[in-house]
Amino acid sequence: MIKEEPDKNIIEQIIFLFNKKKYLEALDLSNRTISDYPNSILINNISGVIHTELKNYFLAKKLFIKVINLNPKYNDGYYNLANIYNKLGEEDNAIKNYEKVIELDKSYYKAYNNLGNIFRKRNLNKKALDYYIQTLTINPNYIRGFYNLSGVLQHYILDEKNKYINKFLLYLLEKKIIVRPNAIATNVINGLFLNTNLKDNFFLLENNIYPKNLDKIIELLNKNKLLLKFMKVCPISNYYIEKNFIKIRNEILNQIYNLNFKNIYLKFLISLSAQCFLNEYVYYETDEERFKVNTINERIKKNINTKEINDLEILILSCYSPLYSFDWCKKINPSNELKETFILQYRNYNEEKKYIQKIKSISKINDKISIKVKNQYEENPYPRWTNLGLSIEPRVINEVIENINLNVDFKKLNFSKNPEILIAGCGTGQHAITTASKYKNSEIFALDLSFNSLSYAKRKAEELNFKNINFIQGDLLDLRKLDKKFDIIESVGVLHHMADPLVGWECITDCLKKDALMLIGLYSEKARENIVNIREKINSLRIKITKKNIINFRKDIFENNITAWDSVKFSPDFYSTSGVRDLLFHVQEHRFTIKKIRSHMNKLGLIFLGFEDTYVLDRFKKKYNQTNDLYDLDKWEDFEKNNSRIFSGMYQFWCKKIN
Ligand SMILES: C[S@@+](CC[C@H](N)C(=O)[O-])C[C@H]1O[C@@H](n2cnc3c(N)ncnc32)[C@H](O)[C@@H]1O
Repeated sequence: MIKEEPDKNIIEQIIFLFNKKKYLEALDLSNRTISDYPNSILINNISGVIHTELKNYFLAKKLFIKVINLNPKYNDGYYNLANIYNKLGEEDNAIKNYEKVIELDKSYYKAYNNLGNIFRKRNLNKKALDYYIQTLTINPNYIRGFYNLSGVLQHYILDEKNKYINKFLLYLLEKKIIVRPNAIATNVINGLFLNTNLKDNFFLLENNIYPKNLDKIIELLNKNKLLLKFMKVCPISNYYIEKNFIKIRNEILNQIYNLNFKNIYLKFLISLSAQCFLNEYVYYETDEERFKVNTINERIKKNINTKEINDLEILILSCYSPLYSFDWCKKINPSNELKETFILQYRNYNEEKKYIQKIKSISKINDKISIKVKNQYEENPYPRWTNLGLSIEPRVINEVIENINLNVDFKKLNFSKNPEILIAGCGTGQHAITTASKYKNSEIFALDLSFNSLSYAKRKAEELNFKNINFIQGDLLDLRKLDKKFDIIESVGVLHHMADPLVGWECITDCLKKDALMLIGLYSEKARENIVNIREKINSLRIKITKKNIINFRKDIFENNITAWDSVKFSPDFYSTSGVRDLLFHVQEHRFTIKKIRSHMNKLGLIFLGFEDTYVLDRFKKKYNQTNDLYDLDKWEDFEKNNSRIFSGMYQFWCKKIN
C-alpha cells in the first residue's frame, strides 16, 4: 500500500523551519515532500500555511481547496481557507467556511473569533459581541479574544440583558493591560444595571427603614463582584451611582463606632475608599461630615501611640482624604485588611516622591504660561489611570502605520530599526507607555513640565516592567537642548495649552528626522462649544480655582439642570477632580478649526497624512467612500459641519515634513 502521509520527522522539520520564520526553506522542503506525497493532507495544508505567510494567497487558496477535497471533514482546511478568503476581501466566502468549521467542531473557538472580527468590520457589533462571547466561553484563556471583545465594547452600547457579559467585563477590569477601564466604563455601568440587582440595592436607600438596613445593603453590594472591582479601577462616571455612594459614605461615617459586622464594612470600604481616591475626592461633602472626619482624625492622632486604632476608622477617613495626607499614617503598621489601601494611598505616593529625585530636567521653566500650566499639573496630575490597553506585541513602524491607512508611500520611507520616539507632553504616562508597547525595539523619550505627573508615569512604567522609556522634565519650548532628532513625535492634548501653539509646534517639528512622522492632538472649536459656554460662565462668576470651588460648581451643574450643559455630564473627565479641572478650569486653552490647522501646517512645511481615530474614520467613510477623500481636509471640514461633536476626542492626526 502506498503511504499517503510523510514521516512524522519531516513534518516536524518543516514546522520547525516555519516557527523559526525560515519560510522559504520550509517551503522548499514541503514542495519536495509534496512531490513524493501529492495527496498528503498534512503537507498540502502546511504548504498552504507557508504560502499564506509569504502572502501568496492564490496559491494558498488552491492548496486548501485541495486539502478539503481530499478530506471534506478536515476542519483546519476550512479554517485556513476561510482566513485566505478574509485576506482576499471575500468576506461572504470566509463566513461560509468559518461556519463549516463550526459545523464540524463546535469548540473551534478561533472560527467564532474570526466571525466576530468580520461582523465587527461590518459594524454589526451586537453579532460580533455574541461571537466573541462564544469564543471566550470555549476558551477563557484566549487573550486575543479579550482584546477583540474590548474593541467591540468601545463601539457598542449594551442595551439588553445578557447573562454572560458581566463575567467577561470583570475579567477585562482585572487585567492590567488589555483595555483602559474608562474605555469600557459605559458598558460596565450598563452591565451593572441590566444584569445585576444594583438598582434594587440602591432602592433600599430610599426605604423608610433606612439607615437601619445599612448592614443588609452593604452585604448585597458586596456580592456584586463587578461593582467592587469597577470601584477600584476607574472613577465611575454616573451621577446616580455617585449620589448613592455619597449617601452610603455619609451613613457609614455616622455609624462608624456602632457597626456590628466589621468584615462586611471592611470589604465595602476598601472599594469605596479606592473609588474616592481615584476620583480625587470629587464627591461633595457637608460641613457636618467634615466635622466628623476631623473628630475621628483627632481621636486617632491622640491615641496613635497608646490605644489600638480601628481599621474602620482609618478606612472611612481614607474615603474623605488620601491616607498620605494624615501625619499619623507613618506610625501605622497596617493590618492585612488595610494593606491594599495603604499601598494605594500611602506607599505609592511616597515612592513617587522618591522618583522625582531621579527625573532629569532639561531646563528651568521660564515661559509665563508654561509656569502656570506646570503648576496646574503639579497640583492635579492628569489623567489619573490604573490599567491600560497595550499592544499584544510590538511591531516595526511600517506595520503599525500601515494599519492606520496613512497617505504615505512606505516603500520610500526608511525607518530606523531602533526608532527613537518623542512623546511631547506625556502627562501621567499612559500615552508614553502605550506607544512603548506598540513599536518594536523603540526607545521612548517622554517629556513633561510636571514632576508629579512624571513620577506617577515612572512608577507605573516600572510596575508594568517597561525599560525603554526615559522620562524627562522640561518645557517643549526648550527641546533643542536635548540635541536629538526623532523617528516619530507624538503630542496629544498639549500644544493647545501653550501661550502660542504654533511656536510649540515649530519646536517639535524641528526635532523630526527626515521622513519622520508626527501625531498631533488638538481641541476642536466646534466640538467644545458647550465647554466654552461653561468656561465663560466660570470666568464671569470670577470663580477662583480651588478644589472646593471646583466641587461646588460641579454640584451646581448637576443640580441646576441647565440642559445646554448636559453633555458635560457624560464626559468621564467630569468624574474626577483633575478631570474637571482639565475640562473646565484649565489655566490656558486654545481651540482649533480644520482651517486653522491647515494654515499652521502650511507655515510649518507639513503635510497632512490622515486622522487616527478608527471610530471617526468609519463614520466618515460612510459618507465619503473614495480612498483619497480620507486625506482631503475640505471634505473633513464639510463632515465636521454636519457632525459637530465628531472631534470631541480632539483632532488627532498624522503629518510629516514636505521633503
Ligand atoms: C492634557 S495632558 C495630556 C497628557 C498626555 N499627552 C495624554 O494624552 O495622556 C497635557 C500635558 O501636557 C503637558 N504640557 C503642557 N505644556 C507643555 C510644555 N510647554 N512642555 C511640556 N509639557 C507640556 C502638561 O504638563 C500636561 O501633563
